[in-house]
Amino acid sequence: MVKICCIGAGYVGGPTMAVIALKCPKIEVVVVDIFEPRIIAWNSDQLPIYEPGLDDVVKQCRGKNLFFSKDVEKHVAEADIVFVSVNTPTKTQGLGAGKAADLTYWESAARMIADVSKSDKIVVEKSTVPVKTAEAIEKILTHNSKGINFQILSNPEFLAEGTAIQDLFNPDRVLIGGRETPEGQKAIQALKDVYAHWVPAERIICTNLWSAELSKLAANAFLAQRISSVNAMSALCEATGADVSEVSHAIGKDTRIGPKVLECKCGFWWIVFPEGYLELGLYLRVQWPQRGCKLLETGRAGDTRETPAIGVCQGLLGDKAILSIYDPQVPQELIQRDLSMHKSELDKPPHLRPVNSVAIEQVTCVGDAYEAAKGAHGICILTEWDEFKTLDYKKIYNNMNKPAFVFDGRNVVDIEKLRQIGFIVYSIGKPLDAWLKDMPAVA
Ligand code: UDX
Ligand code: ADP
Repeated sequence: MVKICCIGAGYVGGPTMAVIALKCPKIEVVVVDIFEPRIIAWNSDQLPIYEPGLDDVVKQCRGKNLFFSKDVEKHVAEADIVFVSVNTPTKTQGLGAGKAADLTYWESAARMIADVSKSDKIVVEKSTVPVKTAEAIEKILTHNSKGINFQILSNPEFLAEGTAIQDLFNPDRVLIGGRETPEGQKAIQALKDVYAHWVPAERIICTNLWSAELSKLAANAFLAQRISSVNAMSALCEATGADVSEVSHAIGKDTRIGPKVLECKCGFWWIVFPEGYLELGLYLRVQWPQRGCKLLETGRAGDTRETPAIGVCQGLLGDKAILSIYDPQVPQELIQRDLSMHKSELDKPPHLRPVNSVAIEQVTCVGDAYEAAKGAHGICILTEWDEFKTLDYKKIYNNMNKPAFVFDGRNVVDIEKLRQIGFIVYSIGKPLDAWLKDMPAVA
């Protein structure tokens, strides 16, 4: 029986290993983490991360061939294949601060693997790392190896938050990079055999180590470029009366361009061009600078590190807004902690973020969207949960201050329907004219 151990029970390691265990009943998969509360949560009914479908997968194989343990060294020592899926946050100090990845966790994991190993192992890089990390890791392993043979593979993860299980079940491709030596090729084949349980052979791409490492970074860069382009286009739409959904549909029909990642959301745009947000917030600020305004804000899923909602909330707090926040998944203490934090600290996983959160007085967290919107002047929708599509907006409107605004950063609401109720609706990438026409004169 092949034994797999994954170091790091996070957003990548947890779901990926659960799917491997489900699809390969004859492989024993143990996910280990030094952070015990995370392991306790993985072994409970309340998993530490939320992804649609994940609960089911874990329930089907936990205790059979899927285990979560804090006994890191024991399970690493017993494994044939060790995945390393530890956090690689952006450095906050030293050379490359704010830009380079902090590989401290990776390095200490590698030293531990070398220390405890008594048999040959395949070590798989899962975390997103700079190109040539494998070379550095290989050095650490071989210089401390006590005669043991380590083969390093790069097997980057391409899953997207919110669709992780779907992406893992049906990946566009699986990428495996390894050394071009006979031992390297044997290691590639061993990992290929794992994925071959459910991924068609033509979707498993095998390359050299550096191509695999670079492909992950290149894919992220291309996606970011596309998102930036479409979000820049949304600003043009707002100014010209074009509708970003219509433009995206029209250009996405070109087979050279394709339809995916052409939607406009309050992602990079609100972060990269905060003046976009300022424009949205202008009316609220001018109108109620003294009293502040109450808003409904939300972030997406359990991993709040990159959510644009934080930047938007922090901006509004700076302008003395009073925020009433509802999120279907993120607990109150995490919301308070994230909002009191600097961007560089947000890159860290929740439990490693500093506990400097004196509760921000302007922020309250509530249990449902109706409660959050009560007495508010405006609603900001910054997440894509389906429940925001089906809320009773008439009821919400009746309980809000007038004029009642909706800022839809995800294009989830039915603009016309909401306008009929009486809302002044601003949706990202949609013509501004209608909104401006409706807007009461600002002093
Ligand atoms: C991404 C990659 O997809 C994943 O492979 C990588 O490992 C981590 O980063 P994720 O963080 O879930 O995953 O974000 P993604 O869904 O790609 O979106 C990033 C941001 O861009 C979000 O804020 C989103 O709102 C925005 N976005 C996305 C758009 O503005 N338009 C789009 O069409 C897609
Ligand atoms: P990702 O988003 O890449 O999955 P996360 O930050 O969600 O990253 O998860 C990484 C996990 O790795 C954290 O839970 C952290 O405690 C764990 N970790 C970091 N270093 C080690 C280590 N040396 N041994 C075991 N677990 C580790």
